[in-house]
Amino acid sequence: MTLRTIAAFAVAGLMLASVGASVLAAEFVAPATPEAAVAARQALMKSNGGVLRSAGNLTGAEAEAAMQTLVDNFTHLPLLFPKDSIVGESEALPVIWEKFDDFAAIAMTGKTTAEAGLAAAKAGDNAAYADAIKAIGGTCGQCHQSFRGH
Ligand code: HEC
Repeated sequence: MTLRTIAAFAVAGLMLASVGASVLAAEFVAPATPEAAVAARQALMKSNGGVLRSAGNLTGAEAEAAMQTLVDNFTHLPLLFPKDSIVGESEALPVIWEKFDDFAAIAMTGKTTAEAGLAAAKAGDNAAYADAIKAIGGTCGQCHQSFRGH
């Protein structure tokens, strides 16, 4: 294989990888049914809980990965609440769709804070990293207080 073919293969591989990523994102964006949306967001929330519990003990690449997961989760979160998708065991409250802008804004705050945590983890700034985790915990609670029933 010449260098040029290797390069061509590498480019093709990258293109395939990005196509794969956008297909995944598309699947994430549109759960086909309310049942699928509830299952997807409860799984996402469990991931949030697990990450947040362990994040304080992490450093370096593990801390970065934890913050990246939260950035992704907060980005996807509003997309997993299609209108009036309350079925089965869902604890979502109808007020979510009356105040969807407020609901999405809380997720956006979480995303911004997780990005700050990611930057702090990359910089090895332990104090800023700890601050971000604490603030993220507050953001989870803020949303649950208004938008989750029990
Ligand atoms: C923008 C609002 C919002 C934010 C931010 C948010 N949550 Fe939630 N969370 C919800 C709602 C609404 C539910 C109920 C979903 C359902 O049952 O349909 C929920 C459910 C949960 C659950 C229960 C999941 C299950 O299996 O039933 C856990 C655990 C959870 N959240 C953890 C977190 C953590 C940790 C964070 C922060 C890192 C967080 N959430 C951020 C709105 C939010």
